[in-house]
Amino acid sequence: MNGSHLDDFLRFLSFPSVSADSAPAYRQGVKECSEWLAGRLRAAGLVPEIHETPGNPIVVARNAHAAGLPTVLIYGHYDVQPVDPLALWHHPPFEPHVENGIVTARGSADNKGQILAHILGVEEGLKEGNGKLPVNLIFLIEGEEEIGSPNLAPFLEAHKEAFRCDGVVISDSPMIAPGVPTLTYGLRGVAAMEVSVYGPAKDLHSGMYGGAVENPVTVLARLVASLHQADGSVAVPGFYDGVEPVAAWEREEWAKLPFGAAELLAASGAPALGGENHLGVHERLWARPTAEVNGLYGGYQGEGSKTVLPAEAHAKLTFRLVPGQDSASVLAAVEAHLRAKAPGSVRLVVTPGHAGEAYVTSPITGWGAAAQSALRIAFPGKEIALTREGGSIPIVGDFRRILGVDTLLLGLCLPDCNAHSPNETFPLANLEAGIRLNRALLPELGAIGGGKPPIK
Ligand code: BES
Ligand code: ZN
Repeated sequence: MNGSHLDDFLRFLSFPSVSADSAPAYRQGVKECSEWLAGRLRAAGLVPEIHETPGNPIVVARNAHAAGLPTVLIYGHYDVQPVDPLALWHHPPFEPHVENGIVTARGSADNKGQILAHILGVEEGLKEGNGKLPVNLIFLIEGEEEIGSPNLAPFLEAHKEAFRCDGVVISDSPMIAPGVPTLTYGLRGVAAMEVSVYGPAKDLHSGMYGGAVENPVTVLARLVASLHQADGSVAVPGFYDGVEPVAAWEREEWAKLPFGAAELLAASGAPALGGENHLGVHERLWARPTAEVNGLYGGYQGEGSKTVLPAEAHAKLTFRLVPGQDSASVLAAVEAHLRAKAPGSVRLVVTPGHAGEAYVTSPITGWGAAAQSALRIAFPGKEIALTREGGSIPIVGDFRRILGVDTLLLGLCLPDCNAHSPNETFPLANLEAGIRLNRALLPELGAIGGGKPPIK
């Protein structure tokens, strides 16, 4: 491992750039991380800009424009998930720990290691090409991906021409297994919602009122339970409207993958798998929509027991979406379902949150073919895995809608990387593989040509 690459990685990981938490240390971590990134992109030979937004800054960097070459936009994010539960980390999350070639730190996989690989690849390419790359390049690295990118789509809408490109490249997803080159051609979408149930005006004595006044926690538990059928499917009327079936060629590809139910079970640490058990795991994870409870709270949470009838209860829900669904219709269907089920003895408040649509593209035409050639060069002798993913990168749908372009998803982290969990990891070998991939990819994309006409 090149020592300066390692130093760059460790420095990048040391910024506590948590986007979800407004504590001053994290605000400063975000700001300093964006500034470090801009400096690193300049040192790589690009011209950086920091764009302030109502939220966190967006970092952009470009090479010198050359007429006739295709324009490649490489997207990533420098923000990271919160670290809790902190007690489960073996080392402080923003003091990266290196052992046996594996770096442990918050953000190592999602997304700092993956985006840094592209930056370092471009730096090498510029050095070798005496300042020239085979493409026009735009790095677009935002600081709010983990909170649903609230400011990025408006920014792109406002600067469409500046981001005109022939396609987007993102490494922000897993490889199907260690060392297996992976081209991901689909992502699920996501839509968030908060549900609150309000009952009595204040917490009450459960002996004096219990049995005669509705308990909001019980009502909410019933509502949450009403989201699913016994077979694991979602019980909301209209939820599956438009859901596209899996194509025969996809089933064939997925059956060949070195990751199935056994590996999923092992990675999860659960006693057994759940959900729509009558379907295969790839279909359940990648092509079926879901309803998830992310948090459920209300009532007394302290030590011992307290005979209280709580005044309110809350749930945080998210829905993973698949091609054919539409986030606004799904949220509306869920709200209608909850309102129909809620008794009149409580007040129900439903607040929709962030949303992003599902995405699917062809892995074999144009850029997909170029990506496969580059994967073959970067991972010689290995069969390429064609996958979809269950996670979401909502801006991918916006790139298509606003800029009119598709995205290559070339994941570099491992399935057991602990993204969003304690002890997140990224192997240095994957950083190196990502650099090789970037070095191979840009010439392949350059050879296709391009030069997109202005966006209407
Ligand atoms: N890197 C992930 C997206 C991802 C995860 C893609 C797994 C494929 C497989 C990204 O940082 C992420 O966590 N996205 C969020 C989006 C949400 C906050 C709007 C997600 O999927 O939960
Ligand atoms: Zn993430």
